[in-house]
Amino acid sequence: MAHAESDAIKFAYWVPNVSGGLVISNIEQRTNHSAEYNRKLAQIAEKAGFDYALSQIRFTAGYGADEQHESVAFSHDLLAATTTLKVIAAILPGPWNPALAAKQIATISYLTNGRVAINLVSGWFRGEFHAIGEHWLDHDERYRRSEEFIRSLRGIWTQDSFTFRGDFYRFNEYSLKPKPPHPLPEIFQGGSSRAARDMASRVSDWYFTNGNTPAEIAKQVDDIQAKAKANSHSVKVGVNAFAIVRETEDEARAVLAEVIAKANPDAVNAFGHEVKNAGKASPEGEGNWAKSSFDDLVQYNDGFRSNLIGTPRQVAERIVDLKRAGADLILLGFLHFQDEVEYFGKHVIPLVRELENAEAAASLAAE
Ligand SMILES: Cc1cc2nc3c(=O)[nH]c(=O)nc-3n(C[C@H](O)[C@H](O)[C@H](O)COP(=O)(O)O)c2cc1C
Repeated sequence: MAHAESDAIKFAYWVPNVSGGLVISNIEQRTNHSAEYNRKLAQIAEKAGFDYALSQIRFTAGYGADEQHESVAFSHDLLAATTTLKVIAAILPGPWNPALAAKQIATISYLTNGRVAINLVSGWFRGEFHAIGEHWLDHDERYRRSEEFIRSLRGIWTQDSFTFRGDFYRFNEYSLKPKPPHPLPEIFQGGSSRAARDMASRVSDWYFTNGNTPAEIAKQVDDIQAKAKANSHSVKVGVNAFAIVRETEDEARAVLAEVIAKANPDAVNAFGHEVKNAGKASPEGEGNWAKSSFDDLVQYNDGFRSNLIGTPRQVAERIVDLKRAGADLILLGFLHFQDEVEYFGKHVIPLVRELENAEAAASLAAE
């Protein structure tokens, strides 16, 4: 029996809308943050079988991403260049407020046949907030604000005469017209700390986490899904990974070794210093980057830890291991985006589908 479409693991790629690529290294990266490069990449990705693209929001960067195009405008441009790909635009509370975000995303959803989603990020870089004159909140306060942001978005999108009395946001009998088409834009969130997980188990459609082993992902998933169940909430999980897929494992490992050997130590250490404002600063000290080594930080969302480094078959098998651990989506970064997204679509995704089908058939036979 064919594997049910809805059970198939989904694939997303990081939109390189900031300069410098996805690794903090002087290794050659054939990538580019221009509109032309990104439009073509989005078209390649949708043909290759990718479901989503994720744009990034940065107002400044301390680790080499010197130029950063704004996420919502850039996402809209990619939507205009594609027909099936969904694009997830990062939104940062502080610079954005929910009234603007709700209206902006409702209009983009209307213009693009419902293909826009958002990634509500909570901020990790104090220097960025300082540079743009935004008040810097403590770690868990940032998540309290993000949760109010998400509740406001949903309220505005679904209710007429929406009234909300939060500590950060207030609405008084507000009616957004027109509302976004259904299904509503999906709401992703990034972060792995306890506050991030608790928010995911209450309000987000998707929980995005840094790269990790299947065992560590399973721990997060079990925690979130148990809490979500208690809250009668449904949430899916996306896991970050940096993929290096080559014909032989030795080749792939050699590329990883070169990425790390050519890392820019000052930029990696500056990034490592800044992220202490994130997961490590959470009361329980469990969030993103709480345990990251220098080598991990060379990919700024711990993407090497997911170990999608090897031959197409090895990588496909490891993706299925992550799926067994509870991942619903794999978010991917690459060195040479256009070439490697195409290669991944040709050589890895079909193998993942084969493995998923075999697993579904085996479990049906066992029933
Ligand atoms: C997949 C993913 C994408 C993210 N994208 C952004 C982004 O574009 N801009 C940003 O400021 N933070 C981004 N973040 C950072 C998170 O919002 C959060 O601040 C960080 O992961 C620390 O969270 P924690 O302390 O709860 O673990 C992203 C995180 C993840 C996992």
